[in-house]
Amino acid sequence: MIRLAYGRMFRDALDGSHGLPRERLAELAARFGAIQAEVRRRRGAGDYGFYKLVDQAETVQEITAFAEGLGQAHEDVLVLGIGGSALGARALLTALRKPLWNEWDDEGREFFPRLTILDNVDPGSVRAALARIDPRRVLVNVISKSGGTAETMAQYLVVHAWLENALGSAAHRHLVFTTDPERGALREIAASDGVATLSIPPDVGGRYSVLSPVGLLPAALVGVDVAGLLAGARRAVERAEADDLLQNPAALFAALHWAADTDLGAHIHVLMPYTDRLRDVAEWYRQLWAESLGKRVDREGREVHRGPTPVAAIGATDQHSQVQLFMEGPFDKVITFAAVDDLGPDVPIPPLKDVPGSRPLPAELSYLAGHSLGELLRVEYEATSAALAQMGRMSCTLRLRDLSADSVGELLMFYQIATGYAGAWYGIDPFDQPGVELGKRLTYAAMGRPGYEGQGRTAAEPDRDVV
Ligand code: PA5
Repeated sequence: MIRLAYGRMFRDALDGSHGLPRERLAELAARFGAIQAEVRRRRGAGDYGFYKLVDQAETVQEITAFAEGLGQAHEDVLVLGIGGSALGARALLTALRKPLWNEWDDEGREFFPRLTILDNVDPGSVRAALARIDPRRVLVNVISKSGGTAETMAQYLVVHAWLENALGSAAHRHLVFTTDPERGALREIAASDGVATLSIPPDVGGRYSVLSPVGLLPAALVGVDVAGLLAGARRAVERAEADDLLQNPAALFAALHWAADTDLGAHIHVLMPYTDRLRDVAEWYRQLWAESLGKRVDREGREVHRGPTPVAAIGATDQHSQVQLFMEGPFDKVITFAAVDDLGPDVPIPPLKDVPGSRPLPAELSYLAGHSLGELLRVEYEATSAALAQMGRMSCTLRLRDLSADSVGELLMFYQIATGYAGAWYGIDPFDQPGVELGKRLTYAAMGRPGYEGQGRTAAEPDRDVV
């Protein structure tokens, strides 16, 4: 079970002058009844569809059967998607398969395929992926909830032509689409070309879809325990039923972040896991928090321009990069550490041995000898958290027992639930993203999409002040 340590959000645990006053907790707890009621009401109205993803035994069976049949018959899985249709699969791969997955040989990957996720239309990345992958041995999973996103569909057109060129009419057997059950261009293509499909529940938005077939299929194809993911996620949902804020970790996390932002101007919310394996979970969180909470209008339609800025960091690497800013810069941040108790097999740091004939190692390194890399990583997290507290910087820690599918499933669901609660505290809709529409329209107009002629032509003109 994930534990949330939150004492270092409070002034009395920091330098005495920064941080939330402890009395604020009681006020937040008293207001939580209304927040919980609002979330329950909206869940009832179908807004928070992602909670229900813990109950999809049939989908898990379908995905597992599909993955067993097809996954191991292919050397490569290529995912085409963007935003919520790509970040979750990447987070699962990094967290739950061994590091450098694609660089291992078949045996090293336990005969599961490599997984490449193309989430951009950078021609260099696409060319490189298609040059490396053998079209006869690839399964291409095209993921798009709307079934029509420009970047994903452009990738699809390129990849489909590449497949057809190599395989002729057998191309469709190398494709599987994950998309809306009824709507969109992908659905149409699937019906006419006989492409296999999996459906994304209509009430689950893109950035809340990692535990739907969007994330589960790529994960299952590389051997991740998808039932374990959902078992962990279920625990997060169960804990979020608590009406007492202090017993509801996702709600408490959201409340404290909201209070830190609105009371103290701590509008930068950092997620800093102390393990490389959660690096892409931090990237996934960044999209979830940013796209969900950054809004022009509130629920009443008033112009508010709200939203905290999420930042992804990684320990211990960022101790030599962003931590200087976290320690001494403006008091505008909350740092969330993710610390894992059991990181798996450790690497001991060998003793400094005197080897006859070679120069002895400098004695100043002897403090490292006899410890381990895992120990150093843990001590660095503890030291950074304590140092931030001494400098008056708010932080909290998500403590995971291990990096099993169960723990990671709980972590992902925890964040999704926390984002929903944060939406309620900020008074905005965490499930829409109207702010990206204008850029899309200008792109369509520039690319000549019928119906968008002349839209925002002048706005799309390049900046003329260039030096
Ligand atoms: O969270 C979201 O809704 C977005 O980030 C989408 O995931 C992203 O725009 C991709 O959309 P689609 O899955 O429709 O291609």
